[in-house]
This record gives sequence, C-alpha cells and structure tokens, in this order.
Amino acid sequence: MKDFNFNISTKILFGKDQLNNLADEIKKYGQRVLLVYGRSSIKKIGLYDEILNIFKDNSITHFELEGVVPNPRIDKVREGVKIAKDNDVDFVLAVGGGSVVDSAKLVAAGFYTDSDPWDIVIKKEKVTNALPLGSILTLAATGSEMNAGSVISNEETGQKLGWGSEYVRPKFAIMNPEYTYSVDSYHTAAGTFDIMSHTMENYFTLNDGAYLEDRFAESILKTCMKYGSIAIKEPNNYEARANLIWANSWAINGLLNAGKSTAWSVHPMEHELSALRDITHGVGLAILTPYWLEYCLDNERSEKIAEFGYNVFDIEKTESTFEDAKKAIESLREFFISLGIPENLQKEGFKKEDLPIMARNCVNNRPKPEINGFKNLKEEDILNIYKMAF
Ligand code: NZQ
Ligand code: ZN
Repeated sequence: MKDFNFNISTKILFGKDQLNNLADEIKKYGQRVLLVYGRSSIKKIGLYDEILNIFKDNSITHFELEGVVPNPRIDKVREGVKIAKDNDVDFVLAVGGGSVVDSAKLVAAGFYTDSDPWDIVIKKEKVTNALPLGSILTLAATGSEMNAGSVISNEETGQKLGWGSEYVRPKFAIMNPEYTYSVDSYHTAAGTFDIMSHTMENYFTLNDGAYLEDRFAESILKTCMKYGSIAIKEPNNYEARANLIWANSWAINGLLNAGKSTAWSVHPMEHELSALRDITHGVGLAILTPYWLEYCLDNERSEKIAEFGYNVFDIEKTESTFEDAKKAIESLREFFISLGIPENLQKEGFKKEDLPIMARNCVNNRPKPEINGFKNLKEEDILNIYKMAF
C-alpha cells in the first residue's frame, strides 16, 4: 500500500428530515445565495418550493441559475459567474444531479477570477479561491457532492473535460434518498453504472497491496447490483435508494484509491462519447467497460479480473483463471443488459466514422498521448476498444 492523505471535509446530512438544517448550514458561510439547478425535476418534486420557503423564513437572499443540462455546458457556467459577480453572492447552493453540482463548482471558482472559467477547466488558470458551496443531491451517480472534481463540456471546442480543486469540495451535502424516487429507470440504471464504474476504475490495479480498499470496492459493487435492480422495479423503495446514494459518495471520494496508484481508463474514453453525441455518461460507461476489460485480459491481468468474478459475482473457481476472468466479464455485461442498457455504440446513434475522431480526441485531451491505467492504451488501442463496442 502506498502513502496517502485522506481528508474529506464535506459534512453529510443524510436522511428524510435533513432539509430542516439547510438554513443553519448556509448561514455558517453567507446570506446571499446563488441557487443552481437543472430544468424541471426539482420543481416537479416540490423541492424548489420548499427551499424558497426556507430562504424566506430565514431572510436568505437568493439569485438563480436555472437550466443546467446533462453534460453541462461552459456557457451556462459563464452565465452563473456573471450573476454571482453582479449580485455579490457569498454562497453557492447546487440542487440536482452531478451536472448541477459540477456547474456550481466552476461558478464558485470562476467568481474569483477575471479570466474565462473555461481557462480553469483547461488548466490555463489556477484556482486560488472559490465561493463556499453546498449541495442537495437528487440523483445517485457521480459522487460530486463529496469530491473536488467537476466535468464541463464546451460545444465550441467539442471538448468535455474534468478539472478539480480542493477549494470547490462542497462544505455540506444534504442527501435525502426520497428526492431520488422520481429518477426514471433509465437514469437510475445509468447512475448505478456510473457508481460501479468509479468503483472499478479504482479497483482494477496491479499488485499494490491495498487489500482493504478492494474489499470496500467489492461491497460497493454488490450494493449497486442488489439495489440498482430493486430501485428500477420499485422506485419508491427507501432502502434501495438510500443504499445507492450512499454508495455513490464512497465510490469516488478518495476512499477506494487510498494507497493505490489508479489511473482511470474508461472515463476518458467515455467523455469523448458524451462530448460528441451528448449521450448519458453512465450508459457510455456501461457499454465500454466489458469491452475494455476484454481488451485488458491477458496473463498478467487475468488473476485480478477473475478475483472480481469470484468476489462480486460468486463465480466458481476453476483450474483456468483465464476462463474465470472471461466469465466475470460476461457476468458484468449480463448485469448491465438486465438493467436495459443498449449493447453497443451503434444503438446509441454512433457512426463508424466517429470512432477514429473520438480516439484521436481522447489522446489529444490528455497531458500525455495515452491512458496509463490497468493496461496502457495508446490511440490505436482506444480505437480498437471503440470498434469492439461499436
Ligand atoms: O435537468 P433536470 O430536470 O434536473 O433533470 C435531470 C437530468 O435530466 C434528471 N434528474 C436529476 N434529479 C432528478 C432527475 N429526474 C427526476 N428526479 C430527480 N430527482 O436526471 C437527468 C440527468 O442529470 P445529471 O445531473 O446530468 O446526471 P448525473 O448526476 O449522472 O451527472 C452526470 C454528469 O456528471 C459528470 C458526467 O460526465 C456528466 O456530465 N461526472 C461528474 C463527476 C464528478 N464531478 O466527480 C464524475 C463522473 O464520473 C462524471 O464524469
Ligand atoms: Zn463517472
């Protein structure tokens, strides 16, 4: 196990009545709030009205940035920075899924610079401060409520890129599983895949001696499989929604990569899919992951993939680790398909000519022209994986 620092400062307020604490939490930091949200979901579930009543009762002034879309755009962030600056806000409250939280993070950081917020995403501008930020999470997927990362798209440049700073790690997150009852089956499945992918990106490494982290990871994967299926059949099942939203936080808050050298592979490949064709992030991950594992499968990596099969899918151990690893990958694919995922990229609207463009962009958008993960992937490898998934 490698040396590591572990310090998650986000306060979690988990459960049914936690909205009662919203005003007190905000008032620790400010009184003039920028409320960031998506298109219609928080109004439909009544959360918007409840928040506005809380603001009114507690003399909290608020301004709004509404209409954040999935695969959130830099233009909306620019709009948010302007509203925040024009009105001298002192706190940002994100209410929604990962796209809303990610946009709010860049608004919070963009507030303190005269440069274009996109410069932060492309690392031209360093983050040296940010407005304090809190979130009310309404979808279990990205873990953005408890981490320091954000992913933003730029339609002009055709890029979808991640960036991060400790300054934007949320101060608190209110997580009421009931807010996720209204998430439809498609986004429930996609969110479940996203949580599983974060877990697997951290899990698939070689010889790092982080036994404990891998057992944590396996329990998160099992939780997703058990409760993802239940939440799709019974959207108002509190136990299922509660376990999923809590798993969402722990898959990507630093626990699973503590002591490991992880370099994510499927996420950079997926970000090119959602940059080009605006597909749902979790769906892209679910299509790519089994093919990526197949591509990685060789003598050096078969043991780890087989271990995943034994511990997550209860696959029976045989004399051939290689065959066991293949069964593990097949079980993963079957699980994804059982939740209604399209089996290939074609079914998500991709064309053959998209594949080399995405492979090229994938390496071009990285500091080094390759992915150094479970298996190192150059442009040609990435293209091969896209072709397999096509
Ligand atoms: O716009 P509204 O009306 O709010 O609808 C949203 C949206 O259509 C809807 N939704 C959210 N809560 C709901 C609800 N519908 C009904 N009931 C509710 N309670 O769900 C749709 C998807 O929302 P979005 O926020 O886009 O989903 P998600 O949380 O999956 O976020 C995806 C984005 O996060 C990025 C992804 O790349 C993608 O851009 N990621 C961010 C990460 C991070 N910050 O750490 C890591 C991830 O790997 C990921 O890359
Ligand atoms: Zn993800």
